[in-house]
Amino acid sequence: MPNIAAAGRPRCGRGAAVVRRPALPSTLVGQLRFAAEHGKQVYADAKCAVCHSIGSQGNKKGPLDDVGSKLSTADIRAWIMAAPEMATKTKADRKPPMKAYTDLSKTDVDDLVAYLQTLKKK
Ligand code: HEC
Repeated sequence: MPNIAAAGRPRCGRGAAVVRRPALPSTLVGQLRFAAEHGKQVYADAKCAVCHSIGSQGNKKGPLDDVGSKLSTADIRAWIMAAPEMATKTKADRKPPMKAYTDLSKTDVDDLVAYLQTLKKK
């Protein structure tokens, strides 16, 4: 979120550098958006698009465009943390199968879930 007040402040030549650091947004909606934005990055870094698509990007055999309305937060998390168990439970047989992403940090998983939760068909 751009800080309009800071951006508009004229620089006075006193050597006081304007340090820009991303601050956590103060509103809940802002924080959710912040988390989802980071989750999108986690999705890209983890290369989920090798097997899944969102919009026109990625593997069309595994569309996630409506996953936010189809699955609960808990189920999305379960897929990320324990895909083999979820595949057995849902009898998903697409190959190659999804692995469990147990090497992601808790924040990465939280934010990835927050991002996937935003994917809903209108
Ligand atoms: C090697 C391929 C592969 C990769 C990489 C992969 N998945 Fe999957 N994923 C699958 C398969 C296969 C399924 C079973 C359902 C299907 O056929 O799409 C699945 C199912 C899911 C589901 C449940 C979808 C539904 O509609 O029920 C979610 C959510 C999901 N994956 C998220 C992810 C995320 C997030 C990543 C990256 C961290 C990821 N996947 C990486 C293969 C993969």
